[in-house]
Amino acid sequence: MSSEGVNSGRRKFLTAATSVVGVAGAVGIAVPFVGSWNPSAKAKAAGAPVKADIGKLEPGQMVVVEWRGKPVYVLHRTEDQIADLPQLNGDLKDPDSQISDQPAYITGIDRSIRPDILVVVGLCTHLGCAPKFRPEVGAADLGGDEWLGGFFCPCHGSKFDLSGRVYSGVPASANLVVPPYSFEGDSVLVIGVDTEAA
Ligand code: FES
Repeated sequence: MSSEGVNSGRRKFLTAATSVVGVAGAVGIAVPFVGSWNPSAKAKAAGAPVKADIGKLEPGQMVVVEWRGKPVYVLHRTEDQIADLPQLNGDLKDPDSQISDQPAYITGIDRSIRPDILVVVGLCTHLGCAPKFRPEVGAADLGGDEWLGGFFCPCHGSKFDLSGRVYSGVPASANLVVPPYSFEGDSVLVIGVDTEAA
C-alpha cells in the first residue's frame, strides 16, 4: 500500500540517513539524501522485505502489495469466509497443501499464520496470470451456488478458493504460493521475512 510503502521507505531512509551522518561526520563530507534512496530502492527490487500496514483493512477487503516485483494478495477474511473453507475440500486438488509451495509454518486449510489474514502470491500456478478476486458467493459465471468466493484466473479459467487452494478440473495444478511473512504487532505485515527470523 502506498502509505505503508512511504512509512517503510521513511524508516529505511532515516536509518540510512543516520549512518550517512555518522560517516559524513567522520570525513566532513555532506552526502545528498537522494543518494541514500537509490540503494534502498535497489535493495527492494532485489528482494528486501516489504511492510504493509493492514490495521485498516476491513473484513472482506483485499489489497495488493508488491514484493520482489510480484503482486502479493493480502485478504482480510470474514468469519463466514473462514467457516466456509472446509466445505470445499472435496472439490480441490490439494486441499491440505501437500504438494503446494508454502513455508513449513503455514499449515491447515486456512494456509495462514492468522486465520483472518490470507497472504498469497497473486500469480496463477498454471502460467502466471494474475487471478481476479471474486468474493461474491453464488457468482453465476463461476458455478452459481457452488461458488463460495475465491480467485478466478481469466487466462485459462483456473479457480482458487479464499485460501488460494486450486479447484479440481482446471489447468493450474497447485495452490497459490504463500510467501514467507510475519507480523510486527497486530497491524504490520512483513512480507519476505519468516516468522522464525522476525
Ligand atoms: S495462467 Fe491461470 S489458468 Fe492459465
